[in-house]
Formats: sequence, structure tokens, C-alpha cells
Amino acid sequence: MDLKDKVAIVTGAGGGIGRGIAMKFGSLGARVVVADIKFEGAKETVALLEKGGAKGLALNTDITYPAQVQEMVRTTLSHFGKLDILVNNAGWDLIEPFTKNTPESWEKVIAINLKGPIFCTRAVLDHMMERKYGKIVNISSDAGRVGSSGEAVYSACKGGIIAFTKTMAREMARYQINVNCVCPGPTETPLLAEITRGETGAKIIEAMVKAVPFRRLGKPEDIAGAVAFLASDEASFVTGQTLSVSGGLTMC
Ligand SMILES: NC(=O)c1ccc[n+]([C@@H]2O[C@H](COP(=O)([O-])OP(=O)(O)OC[C@H]3O[C@@H](n4cnc5c(N)ncnc54)[C@H](O)[C@@H]3O)[C@@H](O)[C@H]2O)c1
Repeated sequence: MDLKDKVAIVTGAGGGIGRGIAMKFGSLGARVVVADIKFEGAKETVALLEKGGAKGLALNTDITYPAQVQEMVRTTLSHFGKLDILVNNAGWDLIEPFTKNTPESWEKVIAINLKGPIFCTRAVLDHMMERKYGKIVNISSDAGRVGSSGEAVYSACKGGIIAFTKTMAREMARYQINVNCVCPGPTETPLLAEITRGETGAKIIEAMVKAVPFRRLGKPEDIAGAVAFLASDEASFVTGQTLSVSGGLTMC
């Protein structure tokens, strides 16, 4: 498998799973645009890519603003001359019962997890359709497939991303654009650490590990391998699919 000379945008690659994906892409020969609202994190990822001999570009992008997303794509094209791969990875969550959620928290969860990937997808399509080449990998969640207590609106967004993936895959097949979805299970990242702080959080983690047949949490590298496969030409005939990478937590 290789991504030699491919140009990829990975949103939310300033840390966590996104950084794992960016590093994997870099190791396979891709040039990676690291777009994150946390610009410091994005710059750190690019420094790591360059240390490994890969090329990267850090962009300060908030995916919830269409104008910033369009700017992200324009800058990618002017810097690298083309765009082959988009990974819609940036996400955010808050664990609490639905009845305790505020409407403001719904808005934030929907803006980042559902609208952001829709804006990013729209922004890359004209270029990909014109070239009749493109790979889009959406990072959903097992929460979007099987539900997850404390993550009602997040699950709704991630389920929406799975449905969006399938429709985009159907509409884009005539342009040779592959659209697939990866659903991580619980994975060791700053986000997971943040939402499972304290004693209750430790209990949630313990319960998660017990529920995973492989008896451990995922690591960003575990997710990155699956994403790299779907972003590569090895997966040219795979589209509209949803792949769980969760140590067997969910099966079907
Ligand atoms: N960690 C898990 O257990 C887990 C499980 C299932 C799915 N996921 C999904 O994996 C993806 C990555 O999650 P993670 O755990 O690495 O999270 P993380 O918080 O560690 O990393 C997410 C990155 O996205 C960035 N981001 C957030 N909002 C943004 C915005 N508006 N614009 C641009 N960047 C933004 C953050 O700054 C951060 O660098 C998310 O889509 C998440 O929903 C994670």
C-alpha cells in the first residue's frame, strides 16, 4: 500500500486520531495538509511529519465556517497543485444524559460533527469531479452504528455521517470518487481523556475495556491503517462502506 505523491487534507489532525492518520499518510509518501482549529497542534503535527521526511502544511481552520473551509481547499490547491484525499476527522463530544444537554451543546455537537464534514466534502468535490479522482474517508463512530449512552446528539450526527457517506458514494461513483467511513471504537486520545475525567470516567474506561474482545482501547495508529487503506488505490472498488475499527466491540 502506498500514497506516493498523493495530496491529502486531514481535518482535526493537530492531535489524537487525526495526527495518527497524518503520520501514517506521511509514512506512505503523501503530502498532508493538517487543518485544525488548534493551530499549535497542527504545527506540531507538521513538525513530526517533516522529522519523518514527509511534507506537510499546517492550516488554522474551523470546519464549522464554510468560508474557512473553502480557504483551506484554495490554499491546498495553490500550495500543492492538487487534492486527492479528504479525511473528515475533526470531531467533538461531551458525555452526559440527553435530558441534561443544553440546546447550545446540541448546536456545537451538530456544527462540528455533522455540518463541518458536509462543508468540507462540498468544498473538495468540484476539483475531484473535474479530475475524476478522489478518496473521501469520513470518521464516524460506533456510537453512530449502535448508539451510546450519554452521546445522544453525537450519535445522531455520526449516524448521519454514515448515511451521508452512502449517498455521496452513490452520487460520486460516476466521477471515480470513493467515499467510505471508518468507525473507531473507544480510542486513547485527548478527546477520550477529556470526556472520561475523574472517578466516573475511570469506571467508564474500565467498562469499555471489558466490553472490547481484544481487552484494550484503540490507539490512533489502529485507526490510521484502516483509513490509509480506504484512501489508497488498493481500495479503488470499495465505496459506501462502513468499517468499524474497535477491537471487535461491534460486529456485523
Ligand atoms: N477517541 C475516541 O474514542 C473516538 C471514538 C469514536 C470516534 N471518534 C472520532 O474520531 C475523530 C477524532 O477524535 P479524537 O478522539 O482524535 O479527538 P481529539 O479531540 O483528540 O482530536 C480532534 C481534533 O479535532 C480538532 N477540532 C475540533 N473541532 C474542530 C473544528 N471546529 N475545526 C477544526 N478542527 C477541530 C481538535 O482541535 C482536535 O485537534 C472524531 O471525529 C471523533 O468523533 C473518536
